[in-house]
Amino acid sequence: MNFVDIIIKKRDGGKLDAEEINYFVAGVTDGSLPDYQISALLMAILLKGMDEEETAQLTMGMAVSGNTIDLSSVEGFKVDKHSTGGVADTTTLILAPLVASVGVPVVKMSGRGLGFSGGTIDKLESIPGFRVDVLEEQALAFARKSGIVVMSQTDDLTPADKKLYAMRDVTGTVDSIPLIAASIMSKKIAAGADGIVLDVKCGSGAFMKDLESAESLAEIMVSMGRRVGRKVTAVISGMDQPLGMYIGNSLEVMEAIEVLKGNVEGDLLEVSLTLGANMLLLAGRVQTETEGKELLMEQIRNGKGLEKFREMIAQQGGDVNIIDNYDLLPLSPVKMEVKADRDGYITKMDTAMIGRASQETGAGRMFKGQPLDFGAGIIMKKRTGGAIATGETLAIVYSESKEKCDSAAVFLKKAITIAEKPATEQPPLIWKIIRQED
Ligand code: URA
Repeated sequence: MNFVDIIIKKRDGGKLDAEEINYFVAGVTDGSLPDYQISALLMAILLKGMDEEETAQLTMGMAVSGNTIDLSSVEGFKVDKHSTGGVADTTTLILAPLVASVGVPVVKMSGRGLGFSGGTIDKLESIPGFRVDVLEEQALAFARKSGIVVMSQTDDLTPADKKLYAMRDVTGTVDSIPLIAASIMSKKIAAGADGIVLDVKCGSGAFMKDLESAESLAEIMVSMGRRVGRKVTAVISGMDQPLGMYIGNSLEVMEAIEVLKGNVEGDLLEVSLTLGANMLLLAGRVQTETEGKELLMEQIRNGKGLEKFREMIAQQGGDVNIIDNYDLLPLSPVKMEVKADRDGYITKMDTAMIGRASQETGAGRMFKGQPLDFGAGIIMKKRTGGAIATGETLAIVYSESKEKCDSAAVFLKKAITIAEKPATEQPPLIWKIIRQED
């Protein structure tokens, strides 16, 4: 097969067949295709798209490009969850223990943060001693014993996606719905769960800025699940302001623990309950979303969700004392309050720019492999819609130096719009839920 013919076919808007897609994935995986030809095809796919059949073929090819995890030794219906990425999006740390605490096993591989969005693995690593690099056999043993494990993706999982994602990052080809769908679903399929809940973020702090593109991505991933015999639900949720109030690594761990202790209500809790309830629905543990949310709320009230979180930390080598003593978590030494310079109403937040501010503190990466300051970040004091007076605190910034706090403050001020009159409408928190039977 001549790969140039494949590039030209897609460039001219043609449909690639299974053999051509498999040839592409094999050449990416074994390194036989040069980067310039891979980039050319990626750009052709970005510009001309792929239909559902091509996307499914690419997804399955990538899913089996490396090791796949066999979860059959873990009893029950195993559930997983994936977020397309946002700011202060700490739902995994809340819902994984809550769902596991009602007997539905959660086996989850998570990623590191890159760009403005944070990663669960970085947050967990801010807990002293916590090991995210767990070997497959060990992970299965944890899941069998406690029904929960959250770990980093093993090296040999979906090597084709690793290579393609790195290439997309530097060739302007990240924002393609079929490529994003194949990237996410190949990893989820290879990780072996029976049911997957996808949190497709929509808004200024997400890949998908509008409902139409979020819906297209959600629909194709749900249908991909149907094709390969996995139960998939997609929740389209709002990312027009940070989901929680704490942004950073140890800071987000603290907020998750506060939610599990029952001390925090609001958007972060609501999205965690919605995603968690849909995981329980897929597992057949509850009959309705409302029943699922009530059951998970009960696990907050009776402390069993927090106990499951403690069990997960202990089994992965972390210091469980952090749950009762946040002083044991890192917190950067320099603290700066960012204050409003006018009276008015917060009408809008550019959430990606708030994520950018968090990168400036040292909590997020500017480039792959960059070490993080686990104790850095931002505590937001306001949400959109609220009134604000001159001199009132908008946010508190933590960093290792005054310079970093200053530059984070510049981004924060630019990100938050204060207007004379309140906005007439706020975007919804849960836009839509797409299920396979719908
Ligand atoms: N997350 C992924 O895992 N892959 C993408 O392509 C985009 C977001």
